[in-house]
Amino acid sequence: MTALRDNLGRTFKTLRISLINTCNLACTYCTYGNDESKENYTKHESNVISVHEMLNLIKRLHARLELTTIRFTGGEPLLYKELTTLITGTRDLGIGNLNLTTNGLLLQKMAPALKAAGLRSVNVSLDAIDPLTFFKMSRRHGLEQTLSGIEAAINEGIEVKLNAVIMKGMNDNQVIPLLKFAFSKNIKIRFLEIMSMGHLHGKIDEYFFSQKDILSLINRYYNFSPVSRSDSATANYWRTEEGHHFGIIANESHPFCADCNRLRLDAYGNIYGCLSNNNPVSIAHTNTAGFDFKLREALAQKQSIKFTGSKLSMLHIGG
Ligand code: GTP
Ligand code: 5AD
Repeated sequence: MTALRDNLGRTFKTLRISLINTCNLACTYCTYGNDESKENYTKHESNVISVHEMLNLIKRLHARLELTTIRFTGGEPLLYKELTTLITGTRDLGIGNLNLTTNGLLLQKMAPALKAAGLRSVNVSLDAIDPLTFFKMSRRHGLEQTLSGIEAAINEGIEVKLNAVIMKGMNDNQVIPLLKFAFSKNIKIRFLEIMSMGHLHGKIDEYFFSQKDILSLINRYYNFSPVSRSDSATANYWRTEEGHHFGIIANESHPFCADCNRLRLDAYGNIYGCLSNNNPVSIAHTNTAGFDFKLREALAQKQSIKFTGSKLSMLHIGG
């Protein structure tokens, strides 16, 4: 059997798995307030599938999609108790490119076990390098913990990249300090345009800080030139004269849906064809014919032009 394709001929060899929809931060762009229960979302914790069911689903998806890459997300995936079992199990299925997107709070403690389990890279969300701004963005203290987590991952030889969501009037003054921090550690940083999701769905104008805004800010301090975009990448990258790289994930101003190679699986065994508004398709407990049918149903929901927003926040759909 060859890898399943959508009606544009695209294959989906990258799977993003949202393991848990709770988080130990409460970022302003992600949760409504300190109390995430205000979100328009009903939790069904009892429906969460076991790690063994999750591994079985990954195995079945691998057979149909020929997966090469998995990214574990959340919520905060380091809060998922069976994480190392899951990573080891996935590696044993022969999927080699295993990655994680995390806020880094628990990374210091977990980095050695993650490395031993077979994790290749982490993308750490870091929206500020100044403690007060970190608190303003995340509504929690934790900057020092995150920085220690980044250090621990680097020391373990896990590739580290930083993600910084930039919001006008909130943390746009952090672009240069964050850039300097990343350069000092010799790691890549990507700045993210805010996306119309969750409680900010349809309401991002006030905070929107575009790729163009970010580039003109950086241009005051550094000379840089573009690096050609690799297939299916989320970020555009630039290289400074000094040889450092930075990226921008410009979902709104420079959409990158056309060559998308990603599908999403959540903690309940649902597939989301796309980050944009869609209907989750349950693939748990299906026979072979049902499984294929459901996968095709999810693929049919994929967008090909532009991210159009979602009422779900990243907390639930996993970025
Ligand atoms: P790398 O492989 O390291 O480049 O990771 P990544 O950028 O694919 O993953 P990460 O979890 O760091 O995602 C960062 C951001 O990329 C997300 O928050 C989204 O803004 C964006 N992103 C990731 N996947 C998709 C996607 O399928 N569609 C859209 N529209 N945006 C995506
Ligand atoms: N817009 C842009 N980025 C977001 N993230 C979470 N919510 C949003 C949003 N509304 C980021 C996280 C993490 C990545 C997976 O997505 O900070 O870095």
